[in-house]
Amino acid sequence: MLKKNHPLPMYYQIEEFLKLEINEGAFHPGDMIPSERELSERFQVSRMTVRQAVSNMVNDGILYREKGRGTFVAEKKIEQPLKGLTSFTEDMKLRGMSSSSRLLSFDVMQAPQDIASKLNLEDDGDVYAVKRIRFADKQAMAVETSFLPVSLLPDLTEEIVHGSMYEYLENVLDLRISHARQEIEARAADEKESEDLQIEAHSPVLHIERCSYLDNRVPFEVVKSTYRADRYKFISDIER
Ligand code: GLP
Repeated sequence: MLKKNHPLPMYYQIEEFLKLEINEGAFHPGDMIPSERELSERFQVSRMTVRQAVSNMVNDGILYREKGRGTFVAEKKIEQPLKGLTSFTEDMKLRGMSSSSRLLSFDVMQAPQDIASKLNLEDDGDVYAVKRIRFADKQAMAVETSFLPVSLLPDLTEEIVHGSMYEYLENVLDLRISHARQEIEARAADEKESEDLQIEAHSPVLHIERCSYLDNRVPFEVVKSTYRADRYKFISDIER
């Protein structure tokens, strides 16, 4: 099964073997995998080697540990291509998942300095600050705070932001969304984020900031989002 004198280390071969078993459906999300002792017997390797393989898979988000219970198969991450300017609602629809939002706050305020400069607002430019938890199939995936100029969307309501913001801009206001700049950074969830996303404190998250523009080059949103790193993977195709 595993090759002892192979250039690929044993822990790596075990990882590949377990990944294959998961992909082939021998284990489903939420299933407990065999203990270190069972795996070391099965693969005829030391428990240290098994531990290394399992720890790597935990770090990669393929498995997760529960204290005192065991190690389990995690749900497959959502693979989000880094091309195409899409909305959360569209992304979920494409995957056949349902999307919903919980509105945490909806405020009108004077734009904070960094937001005002990104949205090209004058000093007195008011913005909506809309904070939502975004759910896919009822599981919290991200918490997003969107800043939008009041002058551009004077009639925005709490009801509208319960649904898709992009749909409102395009289908109701007849605006054309054109492009965005996005930055992605790794972080540890702070207390509030872990509570909102129902993940353990300090879990890894991806912080994404997007500034999006209409086709007339007018910026219409600055969004600061925190995505669960255990549920999201960003993919880009690159060419040379
Ligand atoms: C994604 C983006 C946000 C954008 C949102 C719009 O979540 N990260 O920057 O504001 O989509 O989504 P919706 O149209 O579902 O409100």
